[in-house]
Amino acid sequence: MSTVYLNGEFIPHERALVSVDDRGFLFADGIYEVTPAFWGTLFRVERHVERMRRGLAELRIDFDPKSLIDVHRHLLAANDLENKEAAIVYFQVTRGVAPRAHAFPTTAVCPTVYGFAKELERVPRAVWEKGFTATTVRDRRWERPDIKTIGLLPNCLALQTALEAGSTDALLVKDGVALEGSHNNFFAVLDGTVSTHPATNHILNGITREYVLELSRELEVPVEERPIQLEELARAEEAFFTGTTTEIRPTVRIDDCPVGDGRVGPVAKLLMDAYQEEVDRHRP
Ligand SMILES: Cc1ncc(COP(=O)(O)O)c(C=O)c1O
Repeated sequence: MSTVYLNGEFIPHERALVSVDDRGFLFADGIYEVTPAFWGTLFRVERHVERMRRGLAELRIDFDPKSLIDVHRHLLAANDLENKEAAIVYFQVTRGVAPRAHAFPTTAVCPTVYGFAKELERVPRAVWEKGFTATTVRDRRWERPDIKTIGLLPNCLALQTALEAGSTDALLVKDGVALEGSHNNFFAVLDGTVSTHPATNHILNGITREYVLELSRELEVPVEERPIQLEELARAEEAFFTGTTTEIRPTVRIDDCPVGDGRVGPVAKLLMDAYQEEVDRHRP
């Protein structure tokens, strides 16, 4: 039985109930965040909270998420996750409960704040070494996917399309550009350079994306943030997706074409080794 957080209280999951008038339920009017923890230690939580603050400001929801950092820690402890190699803490903040109307409520409403924590099942390295596959799907999202809103239906539909095509990931493509995944960022290695779409309004700027760019620079692998044309992928040496739950996932086939030699490449391995080192650094 898991303990969750709802509006200031830690309660059993089955007692966590939200009104049908919640604007999150009616309009997807809210944001969410997912923060990783390695051996019970939150990883880059300040960046996740800063992304929440920015998203809330964009939606004009009056809530300061800084107070949630301690709540993250409490959720890890309350759910016995401090001795697990990897866990995630999820938070969602919606505008709150109000009679259904598109316009914002005219009287002050309390945002609804919900959080839970659970173990992250990591992919065993032997499976990882075999590589994963992606299917390209047209990006049908709105123009602000840089805001991490709970309105994820186009992302769900894209991933479902990819899964039904037998792939692990959906590669979202708009105007011939490979943008990102349904719930992860996309990288290609082209001429030895780790390349990914710049952090514009067309993608969510992943915290893992930023971490992988930093790791690449530390490892003296050249990096480049630029739009990647879909047709360039035919000559990519490697490709991979990154994200809090995805970590670093190497892609060895996109649609019907092998990526590079069709095997997990040295850059993905180097980055995953460095990522694993970071995880191990937190081992008690
Ligand atoms: C569309 C999208 N892109 C990228 C990411 C990766 O972000 P992060 O690395 O912060 O988990 C996510 C995470 O949910 C996402 O939904």
